[in-house]
Amino acid sequence: MSAAKKILQWSAGAVIAASVIVAAPAMAQSGKGDVVYVPTPQIVVDTMLEMAKVTPADFVIDLGSGDGRIVITAASKHGARGFGVDLDTVLLKMANQNALKANVTDKVHFVEENLFKTDLSKATVITSYLLPDMNLRLRSRIMALKPGTRLVAHDYNFGDWDPDEQRELIVPEKKVGNPGISYLFAYIVPARVPGRWQSLMSIDGRETPLEFNLGQSFQEVDGKVEIRDRSLNLRGRLTGERVRLLAGGRDGVPRHEFTGQVQGDQIKGTLAIGEGASRQQLPWVAKLVQRGELKRAADEPAQ
Ligand SMILES: C[S@@+](CC[C@H](N)C(=O)[O-])C[C@H]1O[C@@H](n2cnc3c(N)ncnc32)[C@H](O)[C@@H]1O
Repeated sequence: MSAAKKILQWSAGAVIAASVIVAAPAMAQSGKGDVVYVPTPQIVVDTMLEMAKVTPADFVIDLGSGDGRIVITAASKHGARGFGVDLDTVLLKMANQNALKANVTDKVHFVEENLFKTDLSKATVITSYLLPDMNLRLRSRIMALKPGTRLVAHDYNFGDWDPDEQRELIVPEKKVGNPGISYLFAYIVPARVPGRWQSLMSIDGRETPLEFNLGQSFQEVDGKVEIRDRSLNLRGRLTGERVRLLAGGRDGVPRHEFTGQVQGDQIKGTLAIGEGASRQQLPWVAKLVQRGELKRAADEPAQ
């Protein structure tokens, strides 16, 4: 990265690359790594973990863990387990000492490792305070994790991946990025549904085959559903394993709302047809017959 080893500045809601390293309250700086050390203010750490809805069942990985505050807070305040990785051995020592002071060494640890090589498979929550290009490099690996895995990023988003929740916090003590403001972006790894799915339902007493052709870009779903002699456009969204798809609702076609839980090659849920008093709710099961590919994002980095 060289000159691009930088802190980015945020101006009027846009991300602008600054070619200089903005003076950061760095307590340690080994010169290793792809971004300098800037600690996330504690109020922001607390909010990130709140947005990730961390519980004792969670395993939290902080990519570039600095003094360890995110993973240590996840353990001490929420009972979670986890680890942090960093390349700066002074920071790693500090993080392990902080874990000892917080009495959470049975739950967390910190290791010297390049975050681009870290095994993320145990994570149910990932946190980051990294540069936008680093986030983009990590994105496809995070998207491939178990559906429902949460990701919370400080200050820099994950490009075209639309956050499931976004917050701005006033943080007077923050001196870098956009001073005084922290931007937080929370994402939930969506299940993968692109492809051809089929259902057989009883609608109005008639056995009715349905065929879905679904496309997916991050958590956004679109496509078509063929019902009897009709082909309806579908639009919807995934929240982890939960899917909601809407079709009809215009030109005399009743509104069709499919909601369900994606479990591998099957979706189980309900189809609600119509609105108000005429609304009928039917059990819905769809089976995958041909898996498709996720749509390529416009900002997909070369891996
Ligand atoms: C902006 S700081 C964030 C620290 C901490 N996550 C927090 O929010 O308080 C980024 C951290 O990433 C570490 N880092 C940078 N590049 C890295 C890499 N390739 N692998 C592991 N750690 C890295 C830096 O040493 C630094 O501690």
